[in-house]
Amino acid sequence: MAFFTQELAIDLGTANTVIFKDGEVVLDEPSIISVNNETGKVVDVGREALSEHYFGFMHRMISPIRYGAIADPESACRMLRRFVRKVRGRGIIRPHLRACVAVPRCFDEKAKRTIHDALGFAGIGEVHFIPRPVSEILGLGFDPMSSHPHMTVDIGHETTEIAITCSGRTNESHYAFISTGGAEMTSNISFHMATCYGFHSNMMATADMIKRKIGSALEDLPEDEDLEPFEVAGPYLNSDQPKIKKVELTYHEIATCLEPILLKIEHAIENVLNAAPEYHQSIENDGVWMTGGGSLLRGISERFSRKFNIPFHVADDPLKAVARGTCLALDGTDRYPFLMR
Ligand SMILES: Nc1ncnc2c1ncn2[C@@H]1O[C@H](COP(=O)(O)OP(=O)(O)OP(=O)(O)O)[C@@H](O)[C@H]1O
Ligand SMILES: [Mg+2]
Repeated sequence: MAFFTQELAIDLGTANTVIFKDGEVVLDEPSIISVNNETGKVVDVGREALSEHYFGFMHRMISPIRYGAIADPESACRMLRRFVRKVRGRGIIRPHLRACVAVPRCFDEKAKRTIHDALGFAGIGEVHFIPRPVSEILGLGFDPMSSHPHMTVDIGHETTEIAITCSGRTNESHYAFISTGGAEMTSNISFHMATCYGFHSNMMATADMIKRKIGSALEDLPEDEDLEPFEVAGPYLNSDQPKIKKVELTYHEIATCLEPILLKIEHAIENVLNAAPEYHQSIENDGVWMTGGGSLLRGISERFSRKFNIPFHVADDPLKAVARGTCLALDGTDRYPFLMR
């Protein structure tokens, strides 16, 4: 690496952006910006923007990334510029910035071009792309170039990506990309609270907390994991006067809310497995590796293991596996054929 070059590995997620530099996490923040309603100026980005939201009515929040892609290029440029400024350091001499970005394997040139341009605006002079399933394999500590197949399931905020990768490549038929994940789980819980208990229909922060506290992919958790009902309070709108109502939610009813999403993911996994009978034995022996925040849902690996009769493992640090693998890929930019410049 040249003296004045800095290398960044970026996982630009719908909910979270993670950046590694020199093998370490240097940024892990929500992918959001807050903008002043009157002036249109950026007030804050990432974590600060999130806290800002709760205290001010002057600002609106924008999520520039939707379904894993840049949906609002102007906001994405502003967010990335601030993120890059945070991690670049404050030296007098500006380093040459080189980045590797993980993108869904199915992204076309246009989607990549938009990310490339936004990173260019943020000051990055050289951009490489890596397909997300390959970065996951690297992040899990495996060799993606080996002829041994690896099956990965990344359940993110708005996307779920399922792939069997072999010799650094993922065959089209051994791949699925569906637009579901943690966000849909949260909105199903919020809908349940509105329809069954009369709560306000947009209690996303509360619904997200319920998902993390008592969310379960199984309706029958083992006895030692049996969860206590969880009490939530919120504005109750089914009365003449809005008032605060408290209810106790059980993990069983939350599991029922999450069922349609888990069935969608199961269906996609099944299709990928059915398309690769030649790899069955190997996948049965090694298991399937899960990454992304959605894989932290309680009981999810047990559920899929039972359903497919194959072990499903959750990565040690599922929220960072993609960025970690992307960082490892930076060491092999001349060597890895899956990297695209
Ligand atoms: N303990 C948990 N239980 C259930 N869900 C969780 C947990 N922790 C985080 N999540 C969910 O994980 C999601 C974020 O995961 P992640 O950071 O992998 O998404 P992303 O990479 O930003 O999105 P995408 O890959 O779709 O672009 C959020 O929906 C969050 O609510
Ligand atoms: Mg992701």
